[in-house]
Amino acid sequence: MKALILAGGAGTRLRPITHTRAKQLVPVANKPILYYGLEAIADAGIKQVGIVVGDTADEVMAAVGDGSEWGLVVTYLPQEAPLGLAHAVLIAREFLGQDDFVMYLGDNLLKQSLKDFVDRFEDDRLRARAPTLDAGHDSGPCAQILLKPVPDPHRFGVAELGADGSVIRLLEKPADPPSNLALVGVYLFDARIHDAVAAIEPSSRGELEITDAIQWLVDQGLRVRTEVLDGWWIDTGKLTPLLEANRLILETLERRVDGEVDGESDIDGRVVIEQGARVVRSRIRGPVVIGAGTTVADSFIGPFSAIGRRCVIDGSEVEHSVILDDCLVVGAGRLEDSLLGHHVEVKRSERRPKATRLMVGDHCSVDLQ
Ligand code: DAU
Repeated sequence: MKALILAGGAGTRLRPITHTRAKQLVPVANKPILYYGLEAIADAGIKQVGIVVGDTADEVMAAVGDGSEWGLVVTYLPQEAPLGLAHAVLIAREFLGQDDFVMYLGDNLLKQSLKDFVDRFEDDRLRARAPTLDAGHDSGPCAQILLKPVPDPHRFGVAELGADGSVIRLLEKPADPPSNLALVGVYLFDARIHDAVAAIEPSSRGELEITDAIQWLVDQGLRVRTEVLDGWWIDTGKLTPLLEANRLILETLERRVDGEVDGESDIDGRVVIEQGARVVRSRIRGPVVIGAGTTVADSFIGPFSAIGRRCVIDGSEVEHSVILDDCLVVGAGRLEDSLLGHHVEVKRSERRPKATRLMVGDHCSVDLQ
């Protein structure tokens, strides 16, 4: 079993953050989203990992290296343009060979262990294969998809299932979804997927869709195994789901205070304060993580906030927000449901007349109250 991680693509829905960085490297609870996928793959006992990279290849390669940090052996697979998830499989043909593989979308996060999904797929294949091998048939599944009921299925690939759980139809971002079951960005395939990705045509949005490739397998009479997820799953590509992912991961934190906290500060609940961080005359109410080298002074950091490294938060309140490295938040009042990129400054000055003075880049959003 190999793994194919998709870390190319454009990331338009998380602009402006993704103007300057890969969406798969935006941190959740101060750790790049992609690292959670790498951990899940390593935990499933997989060693050989292909990572599909696009315009942000250098950044992804710098962040993941040769994969040895996770005990993985990583091969980078450059994709000349984001031509679709099935196109990524097409260009990975040589790397994948005849092996089964997990395809993992680099911007997806899920709670349940990948290992269980891999084990059940392989068990099902072995069980189905044993008695039929002599006859030259393989009635085992050639693919496995994970599904999750969602309130907004038109934003995803959607599956229509029969009463026995078999796939009737798969549609990519349908205007009129036949069910509320979204395709989760973690798929399992055997080598028959290569025929499928070679056979399909680009969709109306110009991409080779993995959803169409799996539909092709179904149309050939092949079995596609389905599982409906119990735990949470998040496609982090937009602000609200990103903050939600941050909330869910922060909830699993174990309290750890390695930084300095002065006697006038109050730390409450699941809080991680990294080494080299300083908390002065402030109240921190977890779950919260504060990165190395950050100073929080005369401030309140409220639940579900992740503050990056080397930030200064002074005379401000922050809640349910993600603040990336090297930000300055001074006298800013209360920030809520916010995502600040790197090196962002939010500060109140004494200048008159009182006014909001902005210097914001393309695709930013400022919500004034
Ligand atoms: O998140 C689950 C959804 O992912 C599924 O429900 C959909 O069926 C599936 O098509 C996909 O939809 P998205 O529109 O969310 O895919 P996105 O373009 O965001 O790409 C997913 C990941 O794959 C992301 O990390 C970028 C990467 N990618 C994407 C494309 C199109 C590539 O590496 N190469 C590509 O060509």
